[in-house]
Amino acid sequence: MEKTRETPQHIAIIMDGNGRWAKQRGLPRLAGHRAGADSVREVMKACLELNVKYLTLYAFSSENWNRPEKEVTALMSLLEQFLANKLDDLVRLKVRLRAIGQVDRLPNSTREKIAEIEQATQHHQAMTLVLALSYGGREDIINAAKQLAEDALRGEILPSAFDAELFASKLHTAGMPDPDLLIRTSGEMRVSNFLLWQISYTEMVIVKKFWPEFREGDLFAAVDEYRKRHRRFGSL
Ligand code: FPP
Repeated sequence: MEKTRETPQHIAIIMDGNGRWAKQRGLPRLAGHRAGADSVREVMKACLELNVKYLTLYAFSSENWNRPEKEVTALMSLLEQFLANKLDDLVRLKVRLRAIGQVDRLPNSTREKIAEIEQATQHHQAMTLVLALSYGGREDIINAAKQLAEDALRGEILPSAFDAELFASKLHTAGMPDPDLLIRTSGEMRVSNFLLWQISYTEMVIVKKFWPEFREGDLFAAVDEYRKRHRRFGSL
């Protein structure tokens, strides 16, 4: 297939600006997160239309635990509601759910809901919706390093045999292709401890809109931008 026509196989998104969107409208921050959940639905639909195979959303970072307890609790319950409401859609659309991050830090009720849906959708192949929850890129790397060190201590592998492929197989994203495209909303030019290892060669598109304003058309525009870049930097 011609490089210029490629659809990204894996899109990762830093969904930023829920709080500012709400503030602009004189609403509580939670209203911003709620509106953000509608954008998640839009983007899932757009990715399915484009035949994107992996959509990874930065839904809750390791650092987000430092927010006021009230906001953390509200985000968790929003996530549970989203999952409960989405189950039918995920089944109908053959979307698989996968959570990455320190999922064991999440409240029991959230963990149980995730585990239930991961199991119910495990054979789905239309697309994998990856939710990064209590996720931090540095933690991901440290966790992989620990596992490799333990394997080495047990004598199962020599440190000299460590390579990028083996390292990647110990990350939370094991078995997934690296993102082709990373989108961040609300205009910030930061990676904010998202998929540090995995975005080594990823194209980034920064969108000015706040996340709750992000719609299907914005996703298509970001993918167009990605395709243009490939045209410019195509392999010669
Ligand atoms: C960033 O906005 C967003 C988050 C920390 C959470 C993302 C959560 C959602 C979109 C809602 C539900 C998620 C799913 C998967 C249904 P911010 O609060 O950092 O905004 P600000 O920078 O303007 O304060």
